[in-house]
Amino acid sequence: MLVCHCNSVCEKQIRSTIRSGARCLDDVERACGAGGGCGGCSPAVEEILEHELQLHRASALPPDPLDALELLIAPT
Ligand code: FES
Repeated sequence: MLVCHCNSVCEKQIRSTIRSGARCLDDVERACGAGGGCGGCSPAVEEILEHELQLHRASALPPDPLDALELLIAPT
């Protein structure tokens, strides 16, 4: 789906840009151009950015320490 009509940037390109390291609107704009025109797509780009960063944070969470403790004290 085309998100940025000014620079012809689709949602897939924006997600790929974020997964490659973009962490803010300016990063996305520099990397793929989305948001670099009229700015009308900025709310949509920010929404995609927040969703991708939530996924990134969730996948980067350390394992639950209680799970490790259960492994240590579980009877064999
Ligand atoms: S629609 Fe993206 S900058 Fe205009």
